[in-house]
Amino acid sequence: MSQIDYSQKIPNNIGLSDDVRIQRALEKWQPAFIDWWKGYGPSDTESEVYLRTAVSADAKGWAVFDHVKMPEYRWGIFLADKIEGRKISFGRHKGEDVWQQVPGEYRADLRRLIATQGDTEPASVEQVRYLGETAPSLYDLRSLFQVNVEEGRHLWAMVYLLHKYFGKDGREEADMMLDRHSGDPDKPRMLGAFNEKTPDWLSFYCFAFFTDRDGKFQLASLAESGFDPLSRTCKFMLTEEANHMFTGQNGLQRVVQRTCELMRENDDVTKLGGIPLDLIQRYINFHYSVSLDLFGSESSTNAANYYSSGLKGRYREESINDDHVLETETLVKLNERLQDDYVNDCQMGVNRWNKVIKDFGINFELILPEKKFNRHVGQYAEMFINDGMLPTQSDRAYVSSLMKPVLQPGKFANWIAAPAKGINNQSVDFEYIR
Ligand SMILES: [Fe+2]
Ligand SMILES: [Fe+2]
Repeated sequence: MSQIDYSQKIPNNIGLSDDVRIQRALEKWQPAFIDWWKGYGPSDTESEVYLRTAVSADAKGWAVFDHVKMPEYRWGIFLADKIEGRKISFGRHKGEDVWQQVPGEYRADLRRLIATQGDTEPASVEQVRYLGETAPSLYDLRSLFQVNVEEGRHLWAMVYLLHKYFGKDGREEADMMLDRHSGDPDKPRMLGAFNEKTPDWLSFYCFAFFTDRDGKFQLASLAESGFDPLSRTCKFMLTEEANHMFTGQNGLQRVVQRTCELMRENDDVTKLGGIPLDLIQRYINFHYSVSLDLFGSESSTNAANYYSSGLKGRYREESINDDHVLETETLVKLNERLQDDYVNDCQMGVNRWNKVIKDFGINFELILPEKKFNRHVGQYAEMFINDGMLPTQSDRAYVSSLMKPVLQPGKFANWIAAPAKGINNQSVDFEYIR
């Protein structure tokens, strides 16, 4: 079951060819997706990129790497294996069998959850459309494109659920995914952070670290869902999301490392084309705060209802030691709880960057700003905006002045260190893009 069938027009591990109606509908949507990719995805459609793709849905299924042109990447529909006898683990349906169909009373809520998640996926591809033109190395360019194709696949994942389980409404919702665009004044993406620009590589690493990490937490809580197809879809997506976390974590760490190296020569690294630590801090402040907004209001009756209805659980629900039903005061604070789990996860990454700085003997510590900093959603909205802590125009102009493509294998822009090792046991100077 977990083996993926690549002989089909749409690769999948769900037996799509037995479901002719949905197969036809998705085959109709497929050319619209490819058009969208060519119009709004990476501006590079000709290069051959060393990409990883799934061959099976289990943990070992990620082995296959090959050079492909991105528009020819095999986007497909992959769900984690079904767990026989799985029960709903929280809320008022706790202990009941999970649902294989959408319960009528939760149809609108589930559609909204899926559409909101789905909308972020193509948005994040649109946000970095031209970034490939200024890649600091072939290694990094490959990482960007890998994230891009996987976000495209996440869109497929959500579109499949919409087509399969939500009838005509679902098909319309799927069409709208290709119709809204990041930053479009008339038809913007649903959530604020996904209408922001990601204009340079420092922003991209911050986005992959902070904003994709919101994705990880949303997917993890949807993976707990009593609606089993959603749970299985999100479980598989989390394996891809882990790679996005790595891209952000590692990218920022290499920028920090390079800055520290340059500081040995000159405290003012801008003289040497490096990115100052305090500037990195301001980028962190921005991306962290807009990502906190993605969790919604700290206090939320929607979140309470999603939980009680068994639609969306807590992060690692089953490892939590309580009744999994919860009192009202706890229920309305579930967004805040997920946000706190997120903050702890972010802090672990920041600690690693600080270790690099400390190992260089430099007296500087990167931090996560206070939760109330630069917020536009929830209890802290518009309360505490300290302009000195956000990237300035000259910060952005300086970073953008450093963004010159470096495309010889094994070479890296001066503002970023080489990675410790290459991708898939290849060397760092492997030709990741041809
Ligand atoms: Fe995603
Ligand atoms: Fe992601």
